[in-house]
Amino acid sequence: MRAIIDKLELTHNLSDEEFMALLKSASPADDAKLAQRARKLRERYYGKDVYIRGLIEFTNYCRNNCYYCGIRRDNPNAQRYRLTAEQILACCDTGYQLGFRTFVLQGGEDAYFTDERLCALLQEIKQRHPDCAITLSIGERSKESYQRLFNAGADRYLLRHETANKAHYEQLHPAEMSYNHRRQCLHDLKAIGYQVGCGMMVGSPGQKTEHLIQDLRLLQELQPEMVGIGPFIPQHDTPFAQQASGTVAMTLRLLSIIRLLLPNVLLPATTALGTIDQKGREKGLLAGANVLMPNLSPTAVRKKYALYDNKICTGEEAAECIRCLAARVESTGYNIVVNRGDHPNKRGTPKT
Ligand code: 5AD
Ligand code: FES
Repeated sequence: MRAIIDKLELTHNLSDEEFMALLKSASPADDAKLAQRARKLRERYYGKDVYIRGLIEFTNYCRNNCYYCGIRRDNPNAQRYRLTAEQILACCDTGYQLGFRTFVLQGGEDAYFTDERLCALLQEIKQRHPDCAITLSIGERSKESYQRLFNAGADRYLLRHETANKAHYEQLHPAEMSYNHRRQCLHDLKAIGYQVGCGMMVGSPGQKTEHLIQDLRLLQELQPEMVGIGPFIPQHDTPFAQQASGTVAMTLRLLSIIRLLLPNVLLPATTALGTIDQKGREKGLLAGANVLMPNLSPTAVRKKYALYDNKICTGEEAAECIRCLAARVESTGYNIVVNRGDHPNKRGTPKT
């Protein structure tokens, strides 16, 4: 296994057989070695800096029906909410004061948020905070729509591919959702010039090691600027309520492997990882992650954005979250910086 880890560090690639061995049979000592190599690489590009993104969960209305997700349209127990433009802008203002220079607008696929409404919102945020980046995470839209949102000021887009295996994708989503369309969206976003994030859930129902290898191949092909991965966690009102969660160990192993595959990628230690392990986000940073995405949503709605059960930080004010997070980050030897935190390949490129 040491030879495989050395090769991965040296060439940023492995054969399918080597990936299989690493994913299936790494020992705790191998995982520690992987994490150490991943940290070394992360520090080459980012030093000790940890980038923070203020996450604003602005609507939990969703037209989709993903089997894993708590805000799926067929969940009658989801208490639906939609923030007003004023509320969203207030979150950004608070976030700015707290040192955030990236805002992530995340929501379900909510038809209320037309291009017109979103463009007006993006323009207003950019006018108030011209030194900030805006990331959208609002699902599948047309290329024209992505282009309009980009022109209105969006800099980055997160759209997890969830799984790179078509049959597995169809196990996680109803027939009305299309694996090919999702892949098309990711290509469109790249072509437009967004910094793009994709990623998969770890340990989702039906996931095989072969699927994870396909996920890694997709990352190599798409070369995303960001990769968001986290463990699958069951939500009690979904068809997957009784399924087992993904594991901390596999999530950390994959974070390290992704860092070694894509050395300068922006890689968050996610809230889902912090949910299945009290020290999950710290462990994520020590496995090669370099980004955190604390919640900036108003406290009154946080519990309602329940993609999965037992989500952390739903009772906290934004200021409390950032204090708590700063202490957690310091315990790892890294530190939070006040910075847009762009991908190295996209720094200082003026948007057209
Ligand atoms: N467990 C873990 N992650 C989930 N997501 C949605 N539902 C769950 C769940 N039950 C993730 C998906 C989605 C992102 C916003 O949240 O990967 O893309
Ligand atoms: Fe939110 Fe700790 S990060 S309370």
